Amino acid sequence: MYAKAWPANFFTGPSRKAEAKISLLLYRTVGIHTAGMQRDIQNILVLGAGTMGKQIAVQCAGHGRQVALYDIDSAVLSRAKDQLAGIVGWLTAQGHVQPGERSSILERIKVEPDFTSAASRADLVIESVFEDVEAKRRAFQDVGPHCPDQTIYTTNTSSFTASMFVQSCTRPDRLAALHFHLPVWTANVVDLMPHPGTDPCVVETLNKFALSIGQIPIIYKKESHGYIFNALFGAMQRQALDLVIGGVASLEDVDRAWMGIFKMSIGPYGMMDQIGLDTTLRVTAHWARVLNDQAAEQRAAFLEKLTSQGFLGAKTNRGFYTYPDPAYLQPDFLQTGSSSPS
Ligand SMILES: NC(=O)c1ccc[n+]([C@@H]2O[C@H](COP(=O)([O-])OP(=O)(O)OC[C@H]3O[C@@H](n4cnc5c(N)ncnc54)[C@H](O)[C@@H]3O)[C@@H](O)[C@H]2O)c1
Repeated sequence: MYAKAWPANFFTGPSRKAEAKISLLLYRTVGIHTAGMQRDIQNILVLGAGTMGKQIAVQCAGHGRQVALYDIDSAVLSRAKDQLAGIVGWLTAQGHVQPGERSSILERIKVEPDFTSAASRADLVIESVFEDVEAKRRAFQDVGPHCPDQTIYTTNTSSFTASMFVQSCTRPDRLAALHFHLPVWTANVVDLMPHPGTDPCVVETLNKFALSIGQIPIIYKKESHGYIFNALFGAMQRQALDLVIGGVASLEDVDRAWMGIFKMSIGPYGMMDQIGLDTTLRVTAHWARVLNDQAAEQRAAFLEKLTSQGFLGAKTNRGFYTYPDPAYLQPDFLQTGSSSPS
């Protein structure tokens, strides 16, 4: 399911061990400040068991947290347990997780068909549902009434801002964007973007929490769509799509150019496959609508040709490339160069 090129020893490498010691120290001080009380972030409810929700759940459980994972779609939930076991198995096989930790990580993740009980003890709710404003608003509206006062709420949105969910959140002062990257364990930068009304104590708590689960937090001075990485990657992705839509080059050659020059294991099209073409389409179509942008509409139509056939990228084993052995990971992908244009 995931690109094979991730570095080994995620949970167990020397830097992780040092980090684990720091995390332990930090962990003792991480707290939720409420009415003079300080509570650790121990119980986490993740809303959305898709590509990101499962990875975030594993990351938190891998750092000792109790995680409830909920999805509105029962079919997604029924697959989730096996997929979580697959992820943790893969991490173990790659040396990221010690074999002895495997079952305890999985035991700390409960797949929940009903979130109410988990919400009632949640220190932190991580919203990671579809990249759709209304779906996210509904998720916050539904969960809020079941949570205690001190719960912190975060959104994993890629392209919106926490401000857009203030009206739907029971405690807007305890809401911020906390945006993880794919794959969570190695692309371990997390964007921490408060909205103007977020309590600074919540930002501090989330900052310490992020460090304690092996993430590098970037705290934003103000809200901005796409954070840093997505803003940069979005620009590159738009150009990558336009080059192929305009008939300038094949998608393989776009990736080849990027990978060959930067010596990276993946290019823009491989990245879109990993992100999910449905997620990429949602973001592209949203901005095409909002900005009335014809070029964006063409990009959306191009992506839709694949998504309408169920080709969503690595998660369905077919997107721009076929998985689990996509062409860009084959040794000859760069060595042979492109085939001559016909
Ligand atoms: N895929 C990526 O690379 C990536 C990276 C960073 C952030 N994100 C963001 O993470 C979020 C999730 O993306 P994804 O790629 O995991 O999407 P996905 O399509 O794989 O999963 C989304 C899940 O949300 C569920 N859902 C929808 N409404 C719900 C609700 N009200 N309550 C609970 N579950 C609900 C769906 O059934 C689906 O299983 C999006 O905001 C996306 O922009 C994605």
